[in-house]
Amino acid sequence: MTRWRPAATTDVDRLTALLAACEQADPVGLEVEPDQVRARLVRPGLDLARDTLVAEDAAGRLVAYVEVADMGLGPGVLRIRLTGAIDPSARDTATRRVHDWLNDRAAELRRERRPDLPAMLGTRCGASDRRRLDLLTAAGFAVVRWEQTLVRDLDQPVLSAPAPAGVSLVPFDPRYDEQTRLTHNEAYADSPTAMIPDRESWPAHATGLPTFLPEASVLALAPDGPDGNPVVGFLFTLDHVDVRGRAAALLHCLGTRPTWQGRGVASAMLAQTLVTSREAGHRRAELHVGSDNPVAGRLYTRLGFSDTGRGHAILTRQLPAD
Ligand SMILES: CC(C)(COP(=O)(O)OP(=O)(O)OC[C@H]1O[C@@H](n2cnc3c(N)ncnc32)[C@H](O)[C@@H]1OP(=O)(O)O)[C@@H](O)C(=O)NCCC(=O)NCCS
Repeated sequence: MTRWRPAATTDVDRLTALLAACEQADPVGLEVEPDQVRARLVRPGLDLARDTLVAEDAAGRLVAYVEVADMGLGPGVLRIRLTGAIDPSARDTATRRVHDWLNDRAAELRRERRPDLPAMLGTRCGASDRRRLDLLTAAGFAVVRWEQTLVRDLDQPVLSAPAPAGVSLVPFDPRYDEQTRLTHNEAYADSPTAMIPDRESWPAHATGLPTFLPEASVLALAPDGPDGNPVVGFLFTLDHVDVRGRAAALLHCLGTRPTWQGRGVASAMLAQTLVTSREAGHRRAELHVGSDNPVAGRLYTRLGFSDTGRGHAILTRQLPAD
């Protein structure tokens, strides 16, 4: 007997167990720490009663978590993220219902929030979840890229990569939080599935998460820049437990302002983070990179990361405006 109902903030522990089981079976990069799961459930703008659904089995165990989230506006489009985490034991019975609910609620959310705009739906699907991948493609979703998981042993020496002239690297400093948000949104403006956070949703993206590691995160500052925003690059690192339960520094988000790209800003930030993460006691670093991002892929390989062979697909589908 499975009972379907909206998620509640009291579900944190059971939801954490479900997400950890899903990540163990077929990782898509879901957060599996209780604090991160709690942050997900209290995220501003998420209406638990309308935007989430869980399936609870007869023993009270959660076997599915479903969420539709408004990810902010891109250029002329509302971005909506669909999350469907199903325990491998429940895939046969729950996948179709999860798929239908996500699509119905996403269409409703677009009509409620921005009926004048089209929406871009984005979702992740594990490489071995063929059933969901087939349903998504039959419903008009297309794979925009595969995300690979890369890892690096932090005991290995780090390539020297100095910051370009006029740029200094500092650990994350909250005084620059808003300017970092603007830089983030500029760097990711052309990325179809990236979150473009507004002021309210920005803290939940990284800097307000309980697992955020300010000392192992980096800002690249060029105080003499022309437009008053000194933040030309950023790299956010999170405390993370990998699929085998080992602690790792997760290099969660990296960006350089377009006008500063190709000058070594990201290489320098990455090299610095590898050193500070090791100094903070981490032995491994992990990150996810898209198959459509060769610049980032080369950067990570140059700095010593290697492919684990694990990955997931990012799929999108456009919903027209009214
Ligand atoms: C990926 C990204 C962070 C790279 O930032 P960047 O500051 O341009 O990176 P770097 O300058 O260190 O390296 C980029 C390239 O410039 C080259 N470069 C670095 N310093 C250089 C210099 N002084 N002169 C000429 N070229 C240089 C690097 O060799 C590299 O070339 P390659 O791609 O042929 O290997 C940036 O493109 C970005 O913000 N993209 C959007 C967000 C994104 O995709 N983030 C990564 C998610 S996984």
